[in-house]
Amino acid sequence: MALIEMENIKKDYFLGETVVHALKGINLQIDKGEFIAVWGPSGSGKTTLLNLMGAIDDPTEGETAISGKKIHSLSDNERSELRNETIGFIFQGFNLIPVLSALENVMLPLQIMGISGGEAKTRALKRLIEVGLGETMTQRPAKMSGGQQQRVAIARALVTDPSLVIADEPTANLDSETARMIIALMRELNEKEATTFIFSTHDQRLLDQVKRLVRLEDGKIVNGGSK
Ligand SMILES: Nc1ncnc2c1ncn2[C@@H]1O[C@H](COP(=O)(O)OP(=O)(O)O)[C@@H](O)[C@H]1O
Ligand SMILES: [Mg+2]
Repeated sequence: MALIEMENIKKDYFLGETVVHALKGINLQIDKGEFIAVWGPSGSGKTTLLNLMGAIDDPTEGETAISGKKIHSLSDNERSELRNETIGFIFQGFNLIPVLSALENVMLPLQIMGISGGEAKTRALKRLIEVGLGETMTQRPAKMSGGQQQRVAIARALVTDPSLVIADEPTANLDSETARMIIALMRELNEKEATTFIFSTHDQRLLDQVKRLVRLEDGKIVNGGSK
């Protein structure tokens, strides 16, 4: 069974009188353990596609199943649990909480799961150190560079040990050395823990490392949709 199965997915955005057809019939299967990138020009629908896979948004038409379960059939509780525990989502705009420190941002998904302060802190700190931010853990996002904020977002996505990580342009703000470190960390989790990674990117440094490429153009898959 595929980990993610999308069948004839369409997504329209309505802006007053105007309709934007962001996705125009996507068919895609992704298996457990894949390390896969969706790439395509800006505006081709990458973020829209990832949001649908992560149960963050709903399609206009079509269905997405995760581990054989249709997302639209989930209860609110099941959907929240899926988003908080099973999937680690790295947003293009980071979506960090401004009034919380880096450490508190990373601890949050664990606290939502009911994991105690002490254990949550230990696990969050471990992830922050892995992304090279041990020293800046007490800072708030506004005081951090774009690259540092991106790494906080990555640590937050990995802290629950999710089986699926969905990452929207996760290396876009990183210098070469940091990008190499982050890509190596994700590769290691993919190989050792069989964590599935789905990226959107046009970063060649990351494209060089993926095992499968799906090419998106103008809301359609033009290459790599089936294996
Ligand atoms: N919330 C939204 N409201 C209206 N249009 C949107 C919205 N989000 C994205 N779009 C439009 O949908 C298309 C795909 O956007 P997006 O998924 O962000 O592409 P990408 O991530 O590849 O740049 C674009 O034309 C974009 O302008
Ligand atoms: Mg995008």
